[in-house]
Amino acid sequence: MSTISEAEVAARVESLLRKMSLEEKVGQLTQIAGASFMPGPAPEDIIRKGGAGSVLWLNDSKQFNVLQKIAVEESPSKIPLLFALDVIHGYRTIFPVPLAMASSWDPEVPERAQSVAAKEARAAGLHWTFGPMLDIARDARWGRIVEGAGEDPCLGAAMAAAQVRGFQGPYLGAPEHVVACAKHFAGYGFADGGRDYDPVYLPEAQLRNVVFPAFQAAVKAGVGTFMSAYMDLNNVPASGNRWLLHDVLRNEWGFKGFVVSDAMAVGNLIIEGFARDGRDAACRALIAGLNMDMASGTYPQHLAGLVEDGTLKLSDIENAVRPILAIKIRMGLFEQPYIDEAKLEQVVATPEHRQEARLAAQRSMVLLRNEGGLLPLAKSLKKLAVIGPLADSMEATEGSWMVFGHTPAAVTILEGIRSKLPGTNVSYAPGPEIRRDIPSFFEDIMPTEKKPLETPEEAEAAFQTAIATARQADLVVMVLGETADMAGEAASRASLDLPGRQEELLEAVVALGKPVVLVLLNGRPLSIGWAAEHIPAILEAWEPGSEGGNAVADILFGDANPGGKLPVTFPRKASHAPLYYARDLSHLPEDSFQYRSRYWDGPTTPLYPFGFGLSYSTFSITNLKVSSPQIEVGDSLNVTADVTNGGAQVGDEVVQLYIHQRAGSDSRPKRELKGFERITLNPGETKTVTFHLGPAELSYWSTAAGKWVQEAEAFDVWVGADSQATLHAEFTVVR
Ligand code: NOJ
Repeated sequence: MSTISEAEVAARVESLLRKMSLEEKVGQLTQIAGASFMPGPAPEDIIRKGGAGSVLWLNDSKQFNVLQKIAVEESPSKIPLLFALDVIHGYRTIFPVPLAMASSWDPEVPERAQSVAAKEARAAGLHWTFGPMLDIARDARWGRIVEGAGEDPCLGAAMAAAQVRGFQGPYLGAPEHVVACAKHFAGYGFADGGRDYDPVYLPEAQLRNVVFPAFQAAVKAGVGTFMSAYMDLNNVPASGNRWLLHDVLRNEWGFKGFVVSDAMAVGNLIIEGFARDGRDAACRALIAGLNMDMASGTYPQHLAGLVEDGTLKLSDIENAVRPILAIKIRMGLFEQPYIDEAKLEQVVATPEHRQEARLAAQRSMVLLRNEGGLLPLAKSLKKLAVIGPLADSMEATEGSWMVFGHTPAAVTILEGIRSKLPGTNVSYAPGPEIRRDIPSFFEDIMPTEKKPLETPEEAEAAFQTAIATARQADLVVMVLGETADMAGEAASRASLDLPGRQEELLEAVVALGKPVVLVLLNGRPLSIGWAAEHIPAILEAWEPGSEGGNAVADILFGDANPGGKLPVTFPRKASHAPLYYARDLSHLPEDSFQYRSRYWDGPTTPLYPFGFGLSYSTFSITNLKVSSPQIEVGDSLNVTADVTNGGAQVGDEVVQLYIHQRAGSDSRPKRELKGFERITLNPGETKTVTFHLGPAELSYWSTAAGKWVQEAEAFDVWVGADSQATLHAEFTVVR
């Protein structure tokens, strides 16, 4: 545990507060940009006056020390700065994107990944990361689905707690770790139309049953900070929402850390038609419970005046400052404000870290199809063609949300395959390039060098070269999907099709009559209906990180056995969004004989269901038992099932438990995930998996009752390998 007691922290906070001026207190509530794209006074000048508590968008160890020296030697109360940055899935060693890590269904994967990320980031001088991103997302059009754990609150909560442990270590302030930030609180993943930043309308039951569990799990895991979301939540912007930031977060959940706004979000309260002006925005955000203003400049401009004219009390400001100072104390910044600039290169991207990234990537990939056991491929293949615009792209392999200023250094899929098969002729052709139709605003802020746009003639030539290259090979690996900037912030899409001419290229290569393996690099579910019918082997590799190419090759050639499962439903088309498994049934339920499809122009069923993924082993799940057919409200029972590996090699199965409450004061989803475990089995081995169902799993927040309830009702339970599991039992809860 932390070496500093709560009482000592509190005493030190009070003694700091006693010597700080009002302006300095407001300074602690102010996060300023260290990036040159932000207009305004130089950070040095602001810091010297005690006008900043934290700096973001800076990733420069030397400059950290320069700014810190000004803070601790020249500012009036000499309070050190917290340096913050988005370290989302790795600092220098890049791990699979969070959606991919959730596909491992193994909380150890993100926990270990984030602890490596923390170690590297801390060595660089960072104290605080803006992660984990905990937004449940059920609409694949929303670009930020890549940053979260997918559609489900149970999986999301497990991944949330794991990431907090990874980032923060055993306690807040542990060496070689950083402060985590649970974001974006709350509901951001439910943007209207999947359009990033658009408003969100969610009933309280949906918020509490679906959106909040991951955030509450982060609080229970001891997360130090929260970030309020950008959007309007039921017409009250998240950054000015006292119910969210105060009543729920602090009063109900007991959160003791601090809340930072998303970038510019305090100023945005005006755009949202909520605050009259900056003064009103600052006042209402502070009263709502928002401690730190990220980069909008609204707090430093208005808070002191609001206290001076009596609108706010000094104690309102001090209450907001306390948890910020407490975290600085816990992080040891007063004792050790500086970093050893020489240490960074010894710590980052070590072979051990790269190995961790490779294992994480292997465990995160999902085998979607393997007709006739085409995979794993023989290493004795003579002529192999690797085709596709992403096959040799370091950016696409490392994926979206790179650390500021990071230079991609991934092993690409092409390189991974080549180094796996030194004796094989591996030819390569990218085919036509792919690009966003409308560039991201990030390109204006952080311009990168881009090749000029391919002309239609060049694209056609690239297409023909790709076909000719494929024609020469015995087998073709197509690497298709999305570029890194096609998912993430401000990267929503109206379609989920393979962008550009990729589908056409895929179909043309298949027409050659060769065996084709499809490797997908993407940050969201894609509508790959044609491929799902015509390509015998499909591997969802997501955006697998620095070691992605090696991990793909490990799986394709049988050195690793895939065991990941989808954390999100794959719809057949974008227009089916939102599509998720935990729906309520209604008129003409899906299993009734009249049921056809909700759409007359195609099936409503998912292309691939939540929880789905194949292995090179074949598993059977049998012998489902419920420890008691009847329990009383408040009691618990166990559910067990036997899992056997009937295949010829060691493999992993993710055993999943779903329940359905048959009746209640509210209608209940047809299925809800309530437990899962990824297990490894030798050939022929059987293990018994045990799940626990108690009040926490059997309660829900009821609209009718206006509170949490556990009801005396009958329940179905299924255990299986995905959300369509059929192995069924039942039990009853009585009073
Ligand atoms: C905006 C994003 O929404 C948020 O996730 C991120 O942490 C901040 N910018 C800071 O970069």
